[in-house]
Amino acid sequence: MTYWLGFRCAGCGTEHPRETPAGLCPRCNGILLAAYDLSALRTRVSRETFERRAPRLLARWAELMPFTDPGVMEQASLCETETPLLRAQALGESLDLPKLAFKMDLYLPSASLKDRPQSAVVAGAIERKVEVVAVSSSGNAGAALAAHAAKAGLKAVVGVFAGVPEAKLAKIRAYAPSLLLVKGGMDTTEQAIRSVCDRGGWLNAESFVNPYANEGEKTIAYEIAIAHDWDVPDHLFLPLGNAGCVVAPWKGFRELLELGLIARMPKLIGVQFSACCPIAEAFRRGENDIRPFHRQPSFSTTLMHENPISGSLALRAIRDSSGAAIAASDDEVREAMRLMAQQAGIFAEPAGAIALAGAIKLRRNGQIGANDSVLCLVSGGGLNYLNATATGGRVTGPLTLDEIGALDPATIL
Ligand SMILES: Cc1ncc(COP(=O)(O)O)c(C=O)c1O
Ligand SMILES: [Zn+2]
Repeated sequence: MTYWLGFRCAGCGTEHPRETPAGLCPRCNGILLAAYDLSALRTRVSRETFERRAPRLLARWAELMPFTDPGVMEQASLCETETPLLRAQALGESLDLPKLAFKMDLYLPSASLKDRPQSAVVAGAIERKVEVVAVSSSGNAGAALAAHAAKAGLKAVVGVFAGVPEAKLAKIRAYAPSLLLVKGGMDTTEQAIRSVCDRGGWLNAESFVNPYANEGEKTIAYEIAIAHDWDVPDHLFLPLGNAGCVVAPWKGFRELLELGLIARMPKLIGVQFSACCPIAEAFRRGENDIRPFHRQPSFSTTLMHENPISGSLALRAIRDSSGAAIAASDDEVREAMRLMAQQAGIFAEPAGAIALAGAIKLRRNGQIGANDSVLCLVSGGGLNYLNATATGGRVTGPLTLDEIGALDPATIL
């Protein structure tokens, strides 16, 4: 049974009932966060309550999910389960980070963390009897929404901008949503989808515009806590773009703290590309609000939000956790991709490797210690972004079988 009460505005603090439209605060246009009766829930659940259940992405945490009918989680589900933690001992030791591990969200069904928010958005859409769901995307959110909508029998609309990697476009198109190609970047695409949703009466699935997205994404925190036997790593490194995967885990950890299920929160370190880092810049300046950033050229098309609506909330979450917002260069991210693939066997896309780039940076400048436990979120797989792959290894051939027969095998190595 859910302990969901409704929504609370992160801007003006107004509480809204469950039936409020799943959008921004009707009063101030601020971000709505789902609210739960945690003091009642505290007396009814224990660690064992959750441990006994199957590790399903949303259903395991039903009390902390915003659905009146728990059946909608199953209707939206692609059988996602908790993602595993991979301890990367050899890579960690070579980086003087012996307690380095990765949370493997690239194993989710559409190959990125976006299955978390979008499964919850689709479950919410089913409950609200919505027929059309739409999202602006750099590729992964669009694929995740389209996949879950296909499963649930909803119509999906995906907005992407020119330059989205071919593999992401192919992934989206396989699920056959209606595609809106937008001239401009990520921020323009968001505006475009907001506009067609307003006029078409469709449900916008954009993180923060749609409060269900956060509720799906906060499971990152729950899974980390349960996998650490209700402790947490010292530092959790996360990709930072629109800040969904920083604010949502923060909310999840806060809820577990209030429920008395964990005793501390990890330091949340959000990592942006230096080419587009409004949140890291505001953090560096000690400000509470971001200033729009003019995006510079980068090999990444993901995490390129010049003016994310979540900026102030992201800064609040990061500071509350005693964490940081930092930036990594394209070269630092390429190096992280190479190390992950070649020394830990993890093939990540750039946004999936940026967390490690941040961890390497803070270890080198001494902001994190060698004995600290460090967990990096691998938010997307390398097949999403083939032209960004950091390849390696000697290539021999093409040769005929006869030519290979005459070859000293040692020369292949
Ligand atoms: C692989 C990957 N990681 C991280 C993110 C960041 O998600 P958010 O902007 O919601 O924090 C995205 C967003 O598209 C993504 O595709
Ligand atoms: Zn408000």
